[in-house]
Amino acid sequence: MSEKKITVGILGATGMVGQRFITLLAEHPWFNVVAVAASSRSAGQTYAEAVHGRWNYDAPVPAHVGTLKVLDAVKDADTICEQVNFVFSAMSLDKAQVRNLEAEYASKNTPVVSNNSAHRRTEDVPLFIPEINHHHTELIDIQRKNRSWEKGFITAKPNCSIQSYVPVIEALNEFEPTRVAVSTFQAISGAGKTFDTYPEISDNIIPYIGGEEQKSEDEPLKIWGEISDGELKLADSPVISATCVRVPVSDGHLVTVNMELAKQATKEDLIDAINSYENPIADLDLPSAPSPFLKYFEEDDRPQTKLDRDFGNGMGITVGRLREDPVLGWKFVALSHNTIRGAAGGAVLTAEMLVKKGYL
Ligand SMILES: NC(=O)c1ccc[n+]([C@@H]2O[C@H](COP(=O)([O-])OP(=O)(O)OC[C@H]3O[C@@H](n4cnc5c(N)ncnc54)[C@H](OP(=O)(O)O)[C@@H]3O)[C@@H](O)[C@H]2O)c1
Repeated sequence: MSEKKITVGILGATGMVGQRFITLLAEHPWFNVVAVAASSRSAGQTYAEAVHGRWNYDAPVPAHVGTLKVLDAVKDADTICEQVNFVFSAMSLDKAQVRNLEAEYASKNTPVVSNNSAHRRTEDVPLFIPEINHHHTELIDIQRKNRSWEKGFITAKPNCSIQSYVPVIEALNEFEPTRVAVSTFQAISGAGKTFDTYPEISDNIIPYIGGEEQKSEDEPLKIWGEISDGELKLADSPVISATCVRVPVSDGHLVTVNMELAKQATKEDLIDAINSYENPIADLDLPSAPSPFLKYFEEDDRPQTKLDRDFGNGMGITVGRLREDPVLGWKFVALSHNTIRGAAGGAVLTAEMLVKKGYL
């Protein structure tokens, strides 16, 4: 990389995910945060003033970000586009508004690496887990052609729930998974909440997260899709059934998975496939990439949310309890950090991959 850092803006910088971006980028070797944007409620204050009383981390606000004036992500789009090479998007806004605003930035030659769900189903927008479908960068070329955008483009990051189990199923691909039943146990930070702002979760489990089950069933099929004839064709297998519940933990989405495989395997075969998964982007040497990407625990009581969510600086996926299942054949437990791998960290890794592949 050249000495000069790539300039970055964060839309939704004051929120739960936005703050995570600020902490992950504080010492980033390639990226320099030069613009922070949020709603009109925060605009005009310094970043330190805007997050005063709602900063979620023990480490202080990085000094060079704390003094930046917060811009309005909607009204100040032109100013932001003039200052940055690309933006991360993490705004809580109506989906149609997010779709339009992200397209506006891209049309102004500013690539958008989004955490929002608004564009995940858009046909020419890639949905990246870089270790699985990095080759979907081809869809960026198709998108630019479709929309006559020269430098701008939009990429999305999948829902936080799926990053615990999709990497494991990918590692078992040679055994041809056909049906998957997944139950997710999701942290409150996934709803942008803390224990202070979500008292009803204390001593409780809430068996409904709006829209989450559909995303958990559909989005993997886009990640496993194939690009041909200028478009992405969704995969049609495995069929996934998801049940998503909110549990009283701060960070970390744990899942239990039952699955059917078309091919015969032993327990040792499956654990070996997880442990020996060949990460296709390992040779890119990306600063945020965990090594290893997947880790299998032999202990019966691992992975545990509190103990293992920070594995690989919150970017690694941990797996355990692989065993036979009398209904679908096999079952296991897996875990990932929802605001790091599942949100800001996954987006930073995507941006790093896009730099190495020449898109940023
Ligand atoms: N939390 C997670 O684990 C997670 C995981 C994956 C994806 N996501 C997605 O990431 C996005 C942000 O989630 P979050 O949990 O960080 O939400 P959040 O804590 O509620 O933060 C929302 C952010 O959006 C800004 N915003 C709200 N209204 C706006 C407007 N009219 N114009 C511009 N900015 C506006 C807020 O600015 P103000 O501070 O000025 O109000 C704040 O910066 C959501 O789309 C969410 O679905 C979250």
